[in-house]
Amino acid sequence: MSDSFVVALDGPAASGKGTLAELIARDYDFAYLDTGTLYRGVAYLVLKSGGDPADERAATKAAQSFSLDLIAGADIRTREIGAGASKVAAMPGVRKALLEFQRRFAHEPPGGKKGAVLDGRDIGTVVCPDANVKFFVIASPQTRAHRRFLELKDAKPGLTEADVFADLAERDARDAARSDAPMVQATDAELLDTTHLSIEAAFAAARRVIDGALRRRPS
Ligand code: DC
Repeated sequence: MSDSFVVALDGPAASGKGTLAELIARDYDFAYLDTGTLYRGVAYLVLKSGGDPADERAATKAAQSFSLDLIAGADIRTREIGAGASKVAAMPGVRKALLEFQRRFAHEPPGGKKGAVLDGRDIGTVVCPDANVKFFVIASPQTRAHRRFLELKDAKPGLTEADVFADLAERDARDAARSDAPMVQATDAELLDTTHLSIEAAFAAARRVIDGALRRRPS
């Protein structure tokens, strides 16, 4: 067992978990992995080679040879890739291929860091069930759609907030209903509802939990 301090953040798209994870990683000098990047990366690689992310063989093959270098510089935050990512994320072969990479990152963080922060859907339940601290970050569907709309609107002039709301609803349903590693709150995760919280307030709440766990940790 490594002595890396692991912080797991799970929750639906645009709940604020990514922003929180980055702030935590910076503040505690921990390594950070946005695990959605891996599923988006697999969808991107399949699309780039002319394939369909719904094709399980193609997606599993891409996941088995996946490395972050293969997607360096690619724009993976598009609607098309988000939709493809949610499809490949439901495939057991893809999840299995990406599991080892995520666990290694958590337990042997790059750069010799003393801890790792991972955000995704199944970090506290499947990837790192032994994480030192777990958060399940949520926000109302309207708040999440508004946040994601603001992120995407400049790149997609015709996009409406209603389009984003529909996309998120479809992805949430797929992420929560899949049989392999569905998005669900771990029983020992802290629930953090960011609907009415500023990022500063959400970060302060997270810090209290992390500082408590660090103090209780045997030295
Ligand atoms: O967080 P995101 O929007 O970048 O995630 C892209 C897709 O990947 C999303 O549909 C959920 C899926 N995902 C997952 O199933 N498990 C994770 N640990 C991270 C993301």
